[in-house]
Amino acid sequence: MRAHYRAEGLDEEELADRPMDQFDRWFGEAARAAVRGLLYEPNAMVVSTADTEGRPSSRTVLMKGYDTRGFVFYTNYDSRKGRELAANPHVSLLFPWHPVARQVLVTGTARRTGREETAAYFRTRPHGSRLGAWASAQSTVIPSREVLETAYEDLGARYPEGEQVPVPPHWGGFRVTPHTVEFWQGRADRLHDRLRYTAAPDGTWRVDRLSP
Ligand SMILES: Cc1cc2nc3c(=O)[nH]c(=O)nc-3n(C[C@H](O)[C@H](O)[C@H](O)COP(=O)(O)O)c2cc1C
Repeated sequence: MRAHYRAEGLDEEELADRPMDQFDRWFGEAARAAVRGLLYEPNAMVVSTADTEGRPSSRTVLMKGYDTRGFVFYTNYDSRKGRELAANPHVSLLFPWHPVARQVLVTGTARRTGREETAAYFRTRPHGSRLGAWASAQSTVIPSREVLETAYEDLGARYPEGEQVPVPPHWGGFRVTPHTVEFWQGRADRLHDRLRYTAAPDGTWRVDRLSP
């Protein structure tokens, strides 16, 4: 499969007019590769943020949706990434699809999703994950694992299976509106294809080919 994509490459002519449509094609192919056991969690992406002094930090999260507006993930707003995004909305995303010799790199800005959208997604999560969102003060130092497990058990007693769990106020989605989206296709002899869309002020997209 990797060899197939390497041989095919990525041409300007075959590229969709809009990056989210091109992403849809590639994500579909990554998802099909996942069904065949060739890659895991095609929706796992590395999110990089930076604090107000420009110091970067990265972590993996699961992309839970995408459309013409951008990419959505869910997290704790009080976490390190949540706080950094509140102070500095500039963000980068990386989809590392190594088994098919591809990566997608996004730069853009992150904005919180509306509470309705967050609540709709929260309700689709398994009961245990809903409790987990309450139990974890993500990114804070805790004295032991026991503290976490006790908090989880207490929540389980308060909201038994089948009971509605409210959406934690400190938890929700971010939507990343892309400014640039690069599609990277590994090729032989390190002569990789890199096609990058850049948003123009009038809403159209320019495509540039970058040297590998
Ligand atoms: C495969 C994978 C998926 C993950 N998905 C999420 C996610 O969707 N949301 C989230 O908040 N953390 C997720 N995490 C945990 C994050 O990587 C990270 O540890 C956590 O969000 C705290 O990050 P921060 O302290 O930099 O804010 C995931 C980790 C892995 C390895």
